[in-house]
Amino acid sequence: MGQFNNEIWFVGAEMAPLVKAGGLGDVMGSLPKALLKAGMNVRVVIPYYKNIIPKDLMEVEKSYPAGTVNFGEIPFEFGVKTGFASGGIPLVLIEQGHFFNREEVYGAHGGAEGYKDNLWRFAMLAHGTAYAMKILGIPLVVHAHDWSGGFVPAVVRQTLGDKRVHVEGAGVLSTKLSKHINAKGLRPALVFTIHNLRYQGVYGIDDFYDIGLDFKYNSSFAYEHFGTINSLKGGIKLSDVLTTVSPTYASEITTHSFGFGLDGELKNLKDEGRLKGILNGIDLDYWNPKTDNFIYYNLNLKKNRYNLESYKEWKNFKLKNKRALFSEISMPVKTDKNGVPFPLIGIVSRLAEEKGINELLDALFNWNDFPFQVVILGSGEDYIERKAGRLSEVCKDKVYARIGKYDEALSHKIYAASDIFVMPSKFEPCGLSQMIAMRYGCVIAAGDTGGLHDTVSDISDDNIEEPTGILIKYVDAAGISWALDKLYGFYISDDIGKWCSLIVNSANRCFGWDDSAKVYEDVYYSLL
Ligand code: ADP
Ligand code: GLC
Repeated sequence: MGQFNNEIWFVGAEMAPLVKAGGLGDVMGSLPKALLKAGMNVRVVIPYYKNIIPKDLMEVEKSYPAGTVNFGEIPFEFGVKTGFASGGIPLVLIEQGHFFNREEVYGAHGGAEGYKDNLWRFAMLAHGTAYAMKILGIPLVVHAHDWSGGFVPAVVRQTLGDKRVHVEGAGVLSTKLSKHINAKGLRPALVFTIHNLRYQGVYGIDDFYDIGLDFKYNSSFAYEHFGTINSLKGGIKLSDVLTTVSPTYASEITTHSFGFGLDGELKNLKDEGRLKGILNGIDLDYWNPKTDNFIYYNLNLKKNRYNLESYKEWKNFKLKNKRALFSEISMPVKTDKNGVPFPLIGIVSRLAEEKGINELLDALFNWNDFPFQVVILGSGEDYIERKAGRLSEVCKDKVYARIGKYDEALSHKIYAASDIFVMPSKFEPCGLSQMIAMRYGCVIAAGDTGGLHDTVSDISDDNIEEPTGILIKYVDAAGISWALDKLYGFYISDDIGKWCSLIVNSANRCFGWDDSAKVYEDVYYSLL
C-alpha cells in the first residue's frame, strides 16, 4: 500500500478557467486557489479534455505509466499526467482519448443532451483518480463533486479499503507542518459536495457490471436507487461528510419539493450533522471590474468600499460598457419619451427549466412595449433556446440573444454593461452569476430560493438596510413582471438616490472565498 501525503484532492468534471460548463467549473478553480492561499496542499483531478483545454492555460509536467480498468470484458487503458493550471494550481489529468477527447464536457447544448456513455466516462475519472493515488501518494482527503464525481468514493474504498485515515498531530494539511504526518489507516477521508441535486447521473442497472465496480456497491446502501444506478446517491452514501453550496439549499434539499427523490437520505444526514451548507464564493481577482481585461472600460475607483459619491464613476462605467457592447452587437440605445435610456437587463445562464428563463421570456412576450433592453447569453434546452431566439427576432431593437454558445468574453461584457441582472430560478443551490453581477454593480431580480435567498438583500423587506435587488416568491410570468416593474420604478424615480444606493450596495457585497475556505478547512480537520 502507498504512503499518505498531506494533500487534499479535488475531483470533478470541470475546472475554470481550463474547462467550464457552469458554476461547478468556477468553484473547482477558485476554492482550491483559496485553500492553497491559506497554506493547504491541494491538487485538482480532472479529465484531460485535449480538445477543450486551451494549451496556454495549463502546463503539463510529467506523464506516468498507463493504468488499465476492465469495463465488463473490455480493458481500457488510461494515462496519468501532472502539471499546473494557470495561477499555479497543481493538477492531475486523467487521459483517455476515447472518453475525454470530445467537443463538450457533458454533451451538446451545455450538457442538455448528455453523451450516451457518460456513465463510463465518469467511472473512468474515478478509476483514474484511485490509480493516480497509488503513483503519487495517498492524499489525506479526497473531495469529490457532483454526480460526475459520484463514483470516486466507491473506487477509493474498493482500491484502498474502508478503514479511514487517522492522523496524529495538528496542522497536517498545511505546507509548513507536512513533516509531522503520522497517518494510520488505509483510505483518505471522503468529502462530497452536491452542487445541484437535480442532476444525479441515473443509468440502467444492467450497466452496473460494466463500470469496474464490485457487486457489493449495487445496493441501496450505495448506488442502487429504485432499480437504477444513481451515481450521485452512491457519492452521498459512501462519503464521510456531505456539503452543499449554501445554507438555505442545505435545508431545502431535505424536503420533498426540492429533494428530487433523495430528501429522505439527506434529511437523515442533516439530522446526524453530516450535511453542511457552505456558501460558495467567487474569485475576486478574476471577477474584478477594475482590472477585467475582457471588458471595454474598467472601473476607475481606488477604494474598495463605495458610497454615494462613487456613483458618478459607476454610472460612467455602466454607460461606457453599455455603448461598447451595443456597438459590438449592433443594437441601438433606446430611450423613453424623456430621453432616459431604457435600463439594460442582462441574462447569462444555462437555459435549463429550473432557471426560470422560459417564464422571463413569457413575461416579456406578454408585456405591451416593455421599457427595457435585454441581452441574453445562454445555452440549454431546445424550447428555451428557440423562444429566446424568437423574442430577439420580434423585438430586434430591444432584445439581443446569443444562444447555444458558451462565450466567456461576452459574459464579462454583459455583467459590466447591465443595469439589472435577472436570475428567476425556481431552485438555485447557490448561484454565482448574481454574485458576479453584484460585483459589477448590477441590481438583481432573483427567485427567492437557495443561495439567491442567502445573497440577495430584498428591497421589499423593511428590515433590510442595504438592499441589492428584489426576491421573487412566485416565479411565473406575473411574478417576474411584478419584480421588473418595481425595479423600473426605482430606476426612473425622481429620487435619484434610490437607484444609486442599490448599485452601491450591490457593488459593496464582496462574496469572496476567505470565510467559506476556513469552514472547509474545519470540515477536513474534523475528519482526521
Ligand atoms: P449554474 O452553475 O447552475 O449554471 P451559476 O450561477 O452557479 O449557475 O454559475 C454559472 C456560471 O457560468 C457563471 O460563471 C456564468 O457567468 C457562466 N455562464 C453560464 N452560461 C454561460 C455562457 N453561455 N457563456 C459564458 N458563461 C456562462
Ligand atoms: C451548480 C448550481 C449553482 C451553483 C454551482 C456551483 O451548477 O446550479 O447554483 O452555484 O453549481 O456550486
